[in-house]
Amino acid sequence: MTKAELRKIEALKSLTWEEFYRTPLKNKLTYFEKSGRMFDMLFAQQLTPEIISTLFATANKIRKIAKAKEGLDWLQTLLSHKRAMLYFVQPSTRTFVSFQSACYILGLKVSEIRSTSTSSELKGETPEDTIRTFSSYADMIIMRHFEEGMAEKAAWMLNKIKRPISIVNGGSGKDQHPTQALLDLYTLDLSFAERGGINNKTIVMVGDLKRGRTVRSLSYLLKLYKGVKIVYVSPDYLRIDNEIKDFLKKHKIPFKESADLEKSLPGADAVYMTRIQDEYDINGESKDIDYSKFHLTKKHLKLLKKNAIIMHPLPRRQEIEVAVDSDPRAKYWRQERNGMWIRAALIAYLFGIEDKILNI
Ligand code: NCD
Repeated sequence: MTKAELRKIEALKSLTWEEFYRTPLKNKLTYFEKSGRMFDMLFAQQLTPEIISTLFATANKIRKIAKAKEGLDWLQTLLSHKRAMLYFVQPSTRTFVSFQSACYILGLKVSEIRSTSTSSELKGETPEDTIRTFSSYADMIIMRHFEEGMAEKAAWMLNKIKRPISIVNGGSGKDQHPTQALLDLYTLDLSFAERGGINNKTIVMVGDLKRGRTVRSLSYLLKLYKGVKIVYVSPDYLRIDNEIKDFLKKHKIPFKESADLEKSLPGADAVYMTRIQDEYDINGESKDIDYSKFHLTKKHLKLLKKNAIIMHPLPRRQEIEVAVDSDPRAKYWRQERNGMWIRAALIAYLFGIEDKILNI
């Protein structure tokens, strides 16, 4: 690291949390790095084409090695001396289980807290002190929190202590879900492997785009590809916010907004469905929205290209009719499983052992 870079990190360290939080992301990304490598995984914008291709290659390799018992036994030796804390105080099924399974694949020992009602937070401990406590017992914290910015705050705090440990953001309020975006991208990449990859594809994102953190993180990542077009299909009240639109305009990524699902389907290479995020309602406003117009049903399938794919971060409600599951274009169950492999690759990367896997 150059002297100027070191000075920059020291200056960032001296900021209060409020000042740090307000600092534009591009000016603080190095704070989440160690020796020039990503150390905390908090925002989709941290993922460069180099990191992404390393992670895809590592995930493919892990997947292959894990097929045989001897291979899996070997993988499980790689991080058997490390411990991970899964701090998931917002509901989760697949993100939690897939991170836990990813840890098992690499032999990490896992502890978990799944609710503030069973941790000392019920006794009035702040989340900051709770997180500081984990750092005494774990080498990595993988966390999902209902509060925007909490994963960043954890990393801000722990990068100042003597024994810094990596923070992985498994979902921070309405804000971001970068590892979901990573597995979405991995799924797109695998699905379009024989059609020139993600470049030049049209991605139609449907549903609650205002509060869905997965669409936000995925939108940021699509910047890394050439010729991608995005179509945002949502009820008027749930349109994608200006922050994302400004980002896309700045990077000259063409996008359209629409409220008409049927009209948007024929041009799609990928349709990314999402559920209504009514847990973020302030006054039960979701009840007044007719979300049924944003449901994908069997009758829509004939409108889709033969080689289009259907994705969903899951869990689903009625946004995708169950009858769609048997269509070969439905990729959401595979997408879910891809999550485990790419998260194993990410953990390997954060511990700096991806070369051991890639070079075997
Ligand atoms: C998503 C989430 O939590 O943001 N789920 C997930 O992690 N796969 C999507 C959702 O809850 O709708």
